[in-house]
Amino acid sequence: MKILVLNGPNLNLLGQREPGIYGQTTLAEIEKALQQKAKGQGNELELRQSNIEGELVGWIQEARGSFDVIILNAAAYTHTSVALRDAIAASGVPTIEVHLSNIHAREEFRHKSLIAGVCVGQIAGFGANSYLLALDAAVNIKAKK
Ligand code: DQA
Repeated sequence: MKILVLNGPNLNLLGQREPGIYGQTTLAEIEKALQQKAKGQGNELELRQSNIEGELVGWIQEARGSFDVIILNAAAYTHTSVALRDAIAASGVPTIEVHLSNIHAREEFRHKSLIAGVCVGQIAGFGANSYLLALDAAVNIKAKK
């Protein structure tokens, strides 16, 4: 199975960015742990990060036919981007929404996810472990298309 892991804006700063909320683990460390786990599962991972909404939209569009599952932390775009929501719906690739923090326990503007309705499910609040849980979820997804 081929899995695309996408990270949105400011997640390149993990480790130094608000560590009380997002933890001390860097994105490189998360990616290393994911690669190790995926290897153990016999899955192939590709990992990308962008601060640019349109770039994320492009990657989601291109995933159709190339990847079986997308694991997506859209970061702040979660709460603002109709374009990302539409890209996920258009691609038809089963997508798992991930957040390090529990967005429902934070500021009210973070409670609403515009992408949740087109994702298979949401994993939030487990810190860096949210990504590893998403990988477990990914192997259990039966592609709908
Ligand atoms: C986040 C939560 C978002 O509200 C925030 O904008 C982020 C990170 C998380 O992983 O907890 O940048 O997606």
